[in-house]
Amino acid sequence: MIIRPRRLRQTPEIRRLVRETKLDVDDFIYPIFLVDGEDQKQPVESMPGVYRFSLDRLPEELDRVKEAGVLGVLYFSVPDHKDAYASEAYSDTGTLQKAIRLTREQYPELIVVADVCLCEYTDHGHCGIVHGHDIDNDETLVYLAKMAVSCAKAGVHIVAPSDMMDGRVYAIREALDENNFENVIIMSYSTKFASSFYGPFREAADSAPCFGDRRSYQMDPANQREAIYESVLDIEEGADIIMVKPIMTYLDVLAGVKEVSPIPVAAYNVSGEYAMIKAAAAQGWIDEEAVMMETLLSIKRAGADLIITYFALDAARCLKES
Ligand code: PBG
Repeated sequence: MIIRPRRLRQTPEIRRLVRETKLDVDDFIYPIFLVDGEDQKQPVESMPGVYRFSLDRLPEELDRVKEAGVLGVLYFSVPDHKDAYASEAYSDTGTLQKAIRLTREQYPELIVVADVCLCEYTDHGHCGIVHGHDIDNDETLVYLAKMAVSCAKAGVHIVAPSDMMDGRVYAIREALDENNFENVIIMSYSTKFASSFYGPFREAADSAPCFGDRRSYQMDPANQREAIYESVLDIEEGADIIMVKPIMTYLDVLAGVKEVSPIPVAAYNVSGEYAMIKAAAAQGWIDEEAVMMETLLSIKRAGADLIITYFALDAARCLKES
């Protein structure tokens, strides 16, 4: 007798009936870049379809998010003023804080997430406070905590520390709790690799380090066991959601982290991954929509409970049409 798995592939309906993984609009969070000034909608060259918005133009993008039915946005702010102590990061009148307030007031149904990291705000582009050519881990924690509290004051639902300093989740949790923000969620970039796939983001966020690289704090792409260790540590420090980033070349890491995690695991489909698909599609070499949906599906199949992706609105539209 021939064993016939093809029996279950005969019609679209049968295939749907036995499908193991389904993408859903509720899976997505959409990243948005903010800039100072007025009337700005600046295209990011290496990320077609992605823009940097000034506050007055932000509602047009938030209308699109709402229309798509996507649940949440992740904010990155790119301030004009940068300095050694990243002062714009924790200014209560910073563009990030204003955007959080605006969103909470005008789009009460949206979940607001803020990326908490100093690299967009420091004049040297590193994710921490620098002395000479060294990143001071413990001093950085003080400023990350200040930034998280200032986002909380503005009304953020989730803070997402992406700096990869040791002890930041605990430091942020403690500072939030001391300021009566015990309900603010921490989604930690627990397992963030020192990756070349962040290139287009650094153009968008103007955050490339002016000396050295990020390998003394972001993880070595070679390490799977360390990925588990970093995830477990962040859970112990009080993270509510952990994350693996980038994702397309780290699906094995995601699957491993998912196996040990009692809390939700997010996946960040990063800028370089988006740019590659967009570039190949622009050449007519791949079918953009099909490749996008296959990519997102594979991320979910590997174990992601939520997916941060620049494709969120396009994918939501595809799901609606299907
Ligand atoms: C900030 C940060 C980065 C990304 C998210 N938060 C860049 C970096 O670490 O250099 C990358 C996101 C992307 O590439 O889409 N530290």
